[in-house]
Amino acid sequence: MSEELFKKVVSHAKEYGFVFPSSEIYDGLGAVYDYGQNGVELKNNLRQYWWKAMVQLHENIVGIDAAIFMHPKTWKASGHVDGFSDPMIDNKDSKKRYRADQLLEDKIARYEKDGKTQKAQELQLGLDQALLENNLGQLKSLIEQHEIVCPISGTRNWTDVRQFNLMFSTEMGAMAEDADKIYLRPETAQGIFVNFLNVQKTGRMKIPFGIAQTGKAFRNEIIARQFIMRMREFEQMEMQFFVRPGTQKQWYEYWKEARLKWHHKLGLGDSKYRYHDHVKLAHYADAAVDIEFEFPFGFKELEGIHSRTDFDLKNHQELSGKKLQYFDAELDENGKPYGNYIPYVVETSVGLDRLFLSVLCASYKEEEVGEEDKKDTRVVLTLPPVLAPYKVAIFPLTKKDGLPEVARKLMDELKLDYTCFYEEKDAIGKRYRRQDALGTPFCITVDHESLENQTVTIRYRDTMQQERIAMSKVKEILAQEISWGKLLV
Ligand code: GAP
Repeated sequence: MSEELFKKVVSHAKEYGFVFPSSEIYDGLGAVYDYGQNGVELKNNLRQYWWKAMVQLHENIVGIDAAIFMHPKTWKASGHVDGFSDPMIDNKDSKKRYRADQLLEDKIARYEKDGKTQKAQELQLGLDQALLENNLGQLKSLIEQHEIVCPISGTRNWTDVRQFNLMFSTEMGAMAEDADKIYLRPETAQGIFVNFLNVQKTGRMKIPFGIAQTGKAFRNEIIARQFIMRMREFEQMEMQFFVRPGTQKQWYEYWKEARLKWHHKLGLGDSKYRYHDHVKLAHYADAAVDIEFEFPFGFKELEGIHSRTDFDLKNHQELSGKKLQYFDAELDENGKPYGNYIPYVVETSVGLDRLFLSVLCASYKEEEVGEEDKKDTRVVLTLPPVLAPYKVAIFPLTKKDGLPEVARKLMDELKLDYTCFYEEKDAIGKRYRRQDALGTPFCITVDHESLENQTVTIRYRDTMQQERIAMSKVKEILAQEISWGKLLV
């Protein structure tokens, strides 16, 4: 898919009520977006797909919903106060701020596009090395050596590279002078770590076990671009899997494979995913891999799988003064109980907004339809039926002759189990097209024949085939076609 088509996806998302710029009447707010009436349904369904796979289908994984606000010491213990930053550089002429590593990555992409493979490789090596050593001077030198100019001013008048903390802070309490500085969480994971013993004890969980949650996270991204790919307010779906020390590698491999399989089951095309092992590890990890997705602008991170060691629990134990240990009564090879220890953790962390974007991009299709002399283009979202915002649209062919009453009665029978869309305006062809654009897998039309013999027409989104069926059969067909089992089993 080209960049051109990506632009179409972005405008489709707005035109059909999937995603709007936040506070648009005030010209929007950088890298913050709102989900519209159809977007929220798709997003809820994606969240449910994750929750079912991770929590409902695993006896040893449970969910929580921790608060966004957390005690400020949380972020000291987690390393985010001291280490959660990006290298930034300002152009003195345009006064614009950039991520130094992203300026270099863009240059690498340009070298590759121009066939300058050797230059691209050299720069990639230099960038990896600088990031690995956290060498800000080296990043600046690379920007100078490769004559990178500011896209706005066109000059090379750069400041030094500095670290910029990505956490948003605010104050808690009514009086500013009494206020404590607190942070909007930059990841949901810490809400799980601080609740580790609460859940383990009250749920009588035995290692290995997992705690999952979904929720908002906030990062003051220096540059935010590519629509909902990099946002300042976004949603994560994270699971921390607590394991016996020494077994983390094996569980890391397990989750790496399991998560890729979960993505493949969406049916967007297996070749659209790949692993990318991290060279520069986050401050908490001893191994990390990204599952990347081929977005229209190239392969980019969709999900991270991190072996987080005992970093978080150990630091929380130290800073809170509360023991965060697990008693393992199982016997080791010498017949002795493993005893007390701080578990190691393997984390899976996927961004819901990025997942949404991946599904939207891969399902957006423009198809030529119609006969030779009457060719037309239809836009269709080929979403897996169970994820579609509306599962079924119900149309009376006309607004009169009792057809709306029959259509409404059918809708009443279906709407408890399926999201239904009802429409009686416009020609039927136009109504079908609007549903194609929303990804509605089935349209049911009630016509005059329905009054005579209790049949309706079912129209299939992907093939556009229409079939006459008994009205009493509709529920059965929908049940066959729309099931979580199709994705999860
Ligand atoms: N707890 C680990 C963690 O937060 P991460 O790799 O920084 O790891 C995990 O983030 C996932 O969250 C990413 O793979 C991505 O899908 C999503 N994500 C991160 N930053 C994001 C942003 N600014 N906008 C949208 N999604 C983001």
